[in-house]
Amino acid sequence: AKPAGELINSLCATIPDYPQPGISFKDLTPVFADGAALKAVVDALVESFKGQFDAVAGVEARGFLLAAAAAYATGTGVITVRKAGKLPREVVSEDYALEYGTATLELHRTDLAPGSRVLILDDVLATGGTLGAAARLFERCGIHVAGVGVVMELDDLGGRAALTGHNVRSLLRL
Ligand code: PRP
Ligand code: MG
Repeated sequence: AKPAGELINSLCATIPDYPQPGISFKDLTPVFADGAALKAVVDALVESFKGQFDAVAGVEARGFLLAAAAAYATGTGVITVRKAGKLPREVVSEDYALEYGTATLELHRTDLAPGSRVLILDDVLATGGTLGAAARLFERCGIHVAGVGVVMELDDLGGRAALTGHNVRSLLRL
């Protein structure tokens, strides 16, 4: 079987000037649409943190795809980190910076017990705003962030700095 990084590199699509002129957008939907690639990606992310987590969290929306697959593959539960206003019970909220303005992520306070270990997954690490906020949500609930896994990391945007102190694994760095 081909390594995950190679499959990601060959299947990922690059769209020039999307969503704005000057931005080169990396589209991972062809990776998710390919059965062998999806399996390689999920297996590689899980393997990196084997035995270190009790649940897998996905960040809305694209992170859900990876988290559900990884949780199913490891017999663990899946936790949803959602955009503001979607979760019906008591939440913790964290704001993060967007290019223009801010956004908010939320987590149900009681979805995972304090002292649990969570693996957080998302598709792309860019500025790190999203995953940094997600990690803070769990820490505020007394949950240990065992690791952060992404399919692709855009090195130039420096997202790792937002995740200092965390064990970050990316399958492909561009
Ligand atoms: C994208 C991507 C990551 C995030 C990375 O999500 O799926 O979650 O941006 O960027 P950052 O490291 O600069 O925060 P987006 O908010 O576009 O939404 P989606 O997953 O719901 O499509
Ligand atoms: Mg996202």
